[in-house]
Amino acid sequence: MGTYAVTGSASGMGAQVAAKLRAAGHTVIGVDLRDAEVLADLSTPAGRDGAAAQVLALCDGRLDGALLGAGVGPLPGADSARRIFAINYLGVVELAQAWRPALAVSGRAKVVVIASNSATTVPVVPGAAIRALLRGDVDRAARVMKWCGPAAPSLAYAASKIAVSRWVRRSAVTAEWAGRGIRLNAIAPGAILTPLLEKQLATPSEARAIRAFPVPVGDFGDPGQLADWMMFMLSDAADFVCGSIVFVDGGSDAYLRANAWPKAVPAWGVPAYLWRFAKHRLAQRAV
Ligand code: NAI
Repeated sequence: MGTYAVTGSASGMGAQVAAKLRAAGHTVIGVDLRDAEVLADLSTPAGRDGAAAQVLALCDGRLDGALLGAGVGPLPGADSARRIFAINYLGVVELAQAWRPALAVSGRAKVVVIASNSATTVPVVPGAAIRALLRGDVDRAARVMKWCGPAAPSLAYAASKIAVSRWVRRSAVTAEWAGRGIRLNAIAPGAILTPLLEKQLATPSEARAIRAFPVPVGDFGDPGQLADWMMFMLSDAADFVCGSIVFVDGGSDAYLRANAWPKAVPAWGVPAYLWRFAKHRLAQRAV
């Protein structure tokens, strides 16, 4: 039986995964604002550092996997973008990086990040904010969002999920992750009936927008079913899954973006594509 870190373990999808892991006999170190082994506010640098260190102390330096599920929706308010970025982006990336040596010890660890189908279904998300996040510059990303008017919270939420998805894809394939036996992937849920969504549905204007959003299979997703997908992604069945973003969204992404992907590399992208091949060969020779 293994030891797993689960952020956002007190509610919604994180709570369901934590319960399923425990039911399967694993040890779970939950991280959340309340009702968790490690109490931490991931919106602050001290909270993230403390959570990372406390989990490492509790797991004795070895983790078999992690679910990074703590997150917030498109919060209203003046400083909402900064808070969304701190929790949804830094709260994933900083903790995953801090836990990487402990994950490498197991030799076969699995990490699942909860992203969102907002990463592909929300239009005109500012690229400057995404690039700033990928550099770890939350201040710059938050300044960009000031130009987005009333759409800022939704765009900031989508930006946080695009950035975290790209971070997963970029990192998963590197020597530090894939090369150390760690499988790093993300799941991209659509609207799932958790307390986060229930809060949004309680506001009439947000409820109208959510219900108008196209979901080909109809209805909202079930958090228990999403947790089953994550359990699968945390299992040995995921040994050959690396840098994938698994959409479990009732078909919204396929409906809105059917032709966006899969797509061949365009002619202008071939030099960069060949460079990736060459880099891989060089790395193989260096071993
Ligand atoms: P939830 O609200 O039920 O659970 C989120 C958990 O994160 C809560 O226990 C909360 O206390 C914790 N959390 C929030 N801020 C925190 C902070 N500053 N420090 C520590 N913990 C904090 O929500 P749900 O729906 O289970 O969300 C889990 C993840 O799934 C989030 O990243 C969310 O963005 C994502 N997601 C949710 C969707 C939905 O429709 N419910 C759709 C797509 C993605």
